[in-house]
Amino acid sequence: MAAKKLRAVRWDKGVVYLLEQRVLPFQEKWVKCDTVERVAKAIEEMTVRGAPAIGITAAYGVAVGAMRSKAKTATAFEKEVEKAIARLRRTRPTAVNLFWALDRMAECLKAISVLSVAEQKRALVKEALLIHAEDEALCDRLGKHGSKLLAKAKNVLTHCNTGALATGGDGTALAAITHAARKNKKLHVWVDETRPYLQGARLTAYEVAHAGIDFHLITDNMAASLMKKKMVDAIIVGADRIVANGDTANKIGTYALAVMAKAHGIPFYVSAPTTTLDLTKKNGDSIEIEQRNPKEVTHPQGVPIAKESYPVYNPAFDVTPGSLITAIVLETGICRAPYQKSLRSALTAAQKESK
Ligand code: MRU
Repeated sequence: MAAKKLRAVRWDKGVVYLLEQRVLPFQEKWVKCDTVERVAKAIEEMTVRGAPAIGITAAYGVAVGAMRSKAKTATAFEKEVEKAIARLRRTRPTAVNLFWALDRMAECLKAISVLSVAEQKRALVKEALLIHAEDEALCDRLGKHGSKLLAKAKNVLTHCNTGALATGGDGTALAAITHAARKNKKLHVWVDETRPYLQGARLTAYEVAHAGIDFHLITDNMAASLMKKKMVDAIIVGADRIVANGDTANKIGTYALAVMAKAHGIPFYVSAPTTTLDLTKKNGDSIEIEQRNPKEVTHPQGVPIAKESYPVYNPAFDVTPGSLITAIVLETGICRAPYQKSLRSALTAAQKESK
């Protein structure tokens, strides 16, 4: 019997349920978020994380706000929903999927303003469910395209978590790995632990084990030595925001991997849906990088490893220049440099498809 599909976000009768990612892999616990504030806190505090999953959760957060509203008039209802959108926007700044999903909910709200409050509530729930279903389908397409790049690889390295826990479906970069592993029985994965938040150790290792794929967990500082020993054939990661020239914000440590890959002649791939594109920015310099709590560095998983009083610098993401990226996998296909052109055409194709 096929293993049950892993999923991180669930909608049921006006409430969003999130798989509590902070206690994985030791406990599988679902958290009920039945207010906008609970959804916002769940995003801020990493109960849910990963760019597409954050976007989907935020869309459901708007739907939760709509369903709970006691407003009697359309004007009062719209104000409440706008307030919910504004609160959810202030959760995490780097992943563009959050803003994409909230913009889409805001557009939906505008388009349905002639309807009754009851009808508007139904329409907003429908839109959030659609965003979730669409992302699941995008993951399948990313998996198919990305797996072609890994068809001959024996050892693939990945960073952070980009699977079912980070998306609405089977993942982005990790979907490429799981798709490739179905055909390429020799595929083995190096899972970077991903300091300081340990998404690789806690979540990716859990996901590849669940999928029955051969893997080893490594600490981030082992990657260069593996590359030198020719123990890595390809690297594939996800993205939180990809801008016009291909510069890509992703989990801190991604840039170092891309530099090392270049030095060792190893292909470096990024996989993400077009909802992660932000072509309004020319390059990665103006991407806002989230700074997180110093305790994530001094007390990983609550365990003290350094004095709490030490000064700490804790950016959650870095930006990899497009010039270090061999190819970007989108649901529309594989993009290569010059990214200004290939990403623009991919986005236009995706927009045409969705009409
Ligand atoms: O801080 P996180 O855990 O939300 O960061 C997640 C990442 O950086 C992922 O690599 C990225 O969102 C791609 S997820 C498909």
